[in-house]
Amino acid sequence: MTATADFQDRMLSLGLARVSEAAALASARLVGHGDEKAADQVAVNAMREQLNMLDIAGVVVIGEGERDEAPMLFIGEEVGTGNGPGVDIALDPLEGTTLTAKDMPNALTVIAMGPRGSMLHAPDVYMDKLAIGPGFEADVVTLDMSPGERVTALAKARGCAPADITVCILERPRHEAMIAEVRATGAAIRLITDGDVAGVMHCAEPGTGIDMYMGEGGAPEGVLAAAALKCMGGQMYGRLLFRNDDEKSRARKAGIEDLNRIYSRDEMVTEDVIFAATGVTGGTLLPGVQREPGWMTTETLIMRSKTGSVRRINYRTPVDSE
Ligand code: FBP
Repeated sequence: MTATADFQDRMLSLGLARVSEAAALASARLVGHGDEKAADQVAVNAMREQLNMLDIAGVVVIGEGERDEAPMLFIGEEVGTGNGPGVDIALDPLEGTTLTAKDMPNALTVIAMGPRGSMLHAPDVYMDKLAIGPGFEADVVTLDMSPGERVTALAKARGCAPADITVCILERPRHEAMIAEVRATGAAIRLITDGDVAGVMHCAEPGTGIDMYMGEGGAPEGVLAAAALKCMGGQMYGRLLFRNDDEKSRARKAGIEDLNRIYSRDEMVTEDVIFAATGVTGGTLLPGVQREPGWMTTETLIMRSKTGSVRRINYRTPVDSE
């Protein structure tokens, strides 16, 4: 096979699960140990090692940072054996380093893969995000609406009262005005301390109780969340936010010309992708890694946007005594 071979999403999805599992197994040993950096590093190492076993000619487009700041899984790093289709990869080996260090819910390992050019090369800046689950007309809520207008519009589309809507928001001082405005509508808010990829996915996952996600978080996480929603269904919008000229030049370097553009889900992820996530700490989307003497067990979500299929794989593996 060559780098121009077809993107074999069906076969590769199972390989992607192994990559995601390996990162979760590695960081699970550091859950609750108060060391974000160590937990992240072991996840990075494990993810990279597994990724390099896949028969792909992969390039990391969303990764651990720019080449000069991240020694592994940096943006532009070539991964895989080189014997296979040319693919773009977006990854976060540990989404929720603090959640892991503090043993709090919904830390995940996350990876998405698609054909070359299928995912926005978002620089490491913030992104204003808005997401809802499937089943609504296009643009029922938009980033140009105020937070209160979004609640009212979604309630109207659902045929319920604003008080029946629950919005998920990252608990940050920068979101105080947004939180106050959403509360003024009567809607409920689920505040999360970290992990907005999971926050967005909650909108599309039945039974989480979350109807809408909004607020500012990492742009790389925004593209990963868009990849997840492309598989699960649901709408998402993102607008890059820049705090200084350095951030703007990072964006231009990444090929972004219109710095004020609002991206829809399908503009962030333009072709069919596959997505895998494994729970590190237990949460509403996935159980965390279970540890018992001699064994570790993971649960991984694998999704393909082409078919909308969602698979959950349990993996139990013997481990050396620790
Ligand atoms: P880490 O995994 O790097 O700790 O990031 C977690 C996260 O909460 C993301 O989910 C989110 O997009 C971003 O950090 C928010 O950034 P900030 O903490 O600067 O508000």
